[in-house]
Amino acid sequence: MNRCAVIMFVRLPRVPSTRCAKCLLILMLAFARPSPADERVWAPLAKDGLRDPSGPAVRILQQPADALLPLSPDNAGNQVRWVHALKEGQINPRASLRKPLVSEKYDKDVLLNLNGGMPVVRFPHSIHNEWLDCSNCHDHLFKKQRGASKISMFLILQGEQCGVCHGAVAFPLTECARCHSVKRADALAELEREEAAKAAAPTPAPPPAPTNERPSAPRKEGKGK
Ligand code: HEC
Ligand code: HEC
Ligand code: HEC
Repeated sequence: MNRCAVIMFVRLPRVPSTRCAKCLLILMLAFARPSPADERVWAPLAKDGLRDPSGPAVRILQQPADALLPLSPDNAGNQVRWVHALKEGQINPRASLRKPLVSEKYDKDVLLNLNGGMPVVRFPHSIHNEWLDCSNCHDHLFKKQRGASKISMFLILQGEQCGVCHGAVAFPLTECARCHSVKRADALAELEREEAAKAAAPTPAPPPAPTNERPSAPRKEGKGK
């Protein structure tokens, strides 16, 4: 292999020869490994332990290797980075088999775990709503208010809350940093900006209460701030 040959000729520092050989071996292994995309292997349907090997599905369904190899690689779960596959247009899932479904739009990121020791969790509504309906989570898994549901890693690891899907049909719980993705200071700054924007935004005036008094002078339109 070319890359290994190159490493062989790199001048190594003067260390005892066994250590030197070990270094070389480690380097060679590190460089000789093909990229994860090339390494991906999926069990054929008849041997995946999920299907009856004598049933008709094994003959009718597409083999996972044929279906999944063209999609963005991942090193976890079923080895497809599904979020990328969707964004890149590699797949175009139907919302329903029959009638077209109109799903509600809601894109807010919710920051969770503000008080823990791990980095803050960014829960992206946008990504989830590409695959799911609000009713998949609200309100039986989570309340529609930040901080109102008692979310805990303990319950998640037991297959509740986020763990209903993550580790089952979505990326596994071993990928800590995909959820715990925001530095605490950045998260606090983001929330502060959010609060400031909320305070600055002109709140829609409540409808005037019915009154017999003469309306007061029209409010001057300020520069807003
Ligand atoms: C699917 C998303 C997800 C993944 C993956 C995940 N966590 Fe969490 N984790 C959460 C959420 C959500 C909370 C609770 C947030 C809250 O308290 O509001 C949490 C809370 C925690 C807490 C308790 C609070 C704290 O910060 O001390 C720890 C510890 C923790 N996670 C560690 C981990 C470790 C270690 C991993 C990887 C092995 C991991 N988590 C993977 C979503 C996730
Ligand atoms: C995959 C699960 C999931 C789906 C699907 C989902 N949500 Fe959420 N939603 C959450 C979580 C988790 C929270 C945070 C709850 C908490 O902190 O207690 C949340 C919070 C909210 C909040 C409160 C936000 C805030 O800042 O207080 C609203 C509003 C909301 N969701 C609306 C929706 C709507 C509308 C849909 C569908 C278009 C939807 N959600 C789909 C999981 C989901
Ligand atoms: C009802 C199922 C469901 C629940 C519950 C759920 N998720 Fe997800 N989540 C998904 C699916 C499906 C995807 C997209 C496929 C994938 O990435 O594996 C996803 C993707 C994500 C991503 C995007 C990762 C990326 O690649 O950008 C994050 C972050 C995430 N989830 C965090 C959470 C957290 C935190 C919770 C709990 C508060 C949660 N999810 C609860 C189904 C769910």
